[in-house]
Amino acid sequence: MSRWSLSAAVLGGEVDDIAADKSISHRVAIFSLLSDRPSRVRNFLEAEDTLSSLAIAQALGAKVSREGEWLQIVPPEQIVEPATVLDCGNAGTGMRLFAGLLSACEGHFVLSGDRYLNARPMKRVADPLRSIGAQVDGRQGGNYAPLAIRGNAKPRAFRYDSPVASAQVKSALILAALFADGPSGFREPELSRDHTERMLRGMGAAIESDGEWITIEPLSKPLDPLAFDVPADPSSAFFFAVAAAITPGSRITLKNLTLNPTRIEAYRVLERMGADVRFELLSDRFEPMGHIHVGHGPLKGVEVSENMAWLIDELPALAIAMACAEGTSTVREAAELRVKESDRITSTVRNLKQCGIQAKELADGFEITGGELKAATLESYGDHRIAMSFAIAALVASGEMVIEETECVATSFPAFGAIYRRLGGKLQEQ
Ligand code: S3P
Repeated sequence: MSRWSLSAAVLGGEVDDIAADKSISHRVAIFSLLSDRPSRVRNFLEAEDTLSSLAIAQALGAKVSREGEWLQIVPPEQIVEPATVLDCGNAGTGMRLFAGLLSACEGHFVLSGDRYLNARPMKRVADPLRSIGAQVDGRQGGNYAPLAIRGNAKPRAFRYDSPVASAQVKSALILAALFADGPSGFREPELSRDHTERMLRGMGAAIESDGEWITIEPLSKPLDPLAFDVPADPSSAFFFAVAAAITPGSRITLKNLTLNPTRIEAYRVLERMGADVRFELLSDRFEPMGHIHVGHGPLKGVEVSENMAWLIDELPALAIAMACAEGTSTVREAAELRVKESDRITSTVRNLKQCGIQAKELADGFEITGGELKAATLESYGDHRIAMSFAIAALVASGEMVIEETECVATSFPAFGAIYRRLGGKLQEQ
């Protein structure tokens, strides 16, 4: 079992090797199956979560090869019924999106994951997919993986009003809708990240939104292949943004990120708290892309309860900024945190308390009062974002911080430790 020991430091510099975007990379692996020609992308995320999705694409018949920086995925003529369980590892995105696609494919498919993923709710996709004609079963009435799916190659067209703003649910249903027997509609309570809509439209799918309902036309022919550079992941970069914001004298430039508005809300909150945050837009093809510059500023407490789907992944790291801010911060409307890779309300609050910070769980968020951080020995709860958030907290803590079970970081950001050290951080792997 790997653990990190860390101590205070000031990070600074430019980072042009932040992990590639996880959401977009999963979609590359999955959507490439919808074309009849090879997809070629550069900068695919080579981390456990997205490699699991790529391995599943292969198990379904795709041929994958690498040529220098390029990844090529040659789709099968038809999706193959795999002879083994499809292993999604730790990735909720992989499991939920494949559930959507395979619900609309002829055959029997079993999706499973690690012990953390198999404890996360799947009813949110299983129920609507069943209602359009797929058979989806799993533990506890289909709520937990392993999920057994018997797909229906012609799902019923639908109008689904989702109770949850989830890009995973939206994407699962859009994928199934591409094969339905007529145009389908999907609505969510607030806009979740929209990479699926952008990428599928870029591939030629007819997906329209009137700002509320998304209308999806079934495919009349295979889609165009994907060909682009995957941008860096603003959620992975955000750990270093917080590092700059909380340490006097620090300034960090995070390069070539997607600046998709559904992904950079946490940076806007950091700016509201008093950090110096500047966005530099470089290009705007399917996704706006550019650099983000972050510098220290005296931070003050903040209330966060809007656009939650746009910053849900960054809340554990934002909690570290809140622990370093003057006054009390409150996060609400974030009950989704309870069903992420760990219950992030509990794991964040417990670890902050261990560090001597006043923090309180709320049913749908937390309350944090800024103060002096003390080093402690902390659990990662098997959750990559908890491990990396508290590695950032160590930068301003007194004494030696220890974080246990850090192998989970490899699910999204294998180079995190190396970049942390390169920017001046003191991190030892044991
Ligand atoms: C993701 C969507 C979000 C996010 C997750 C990645 C995606 O989850 O938290 O890390 O790539 O679609 P939900 O859609 O469940 O909110």
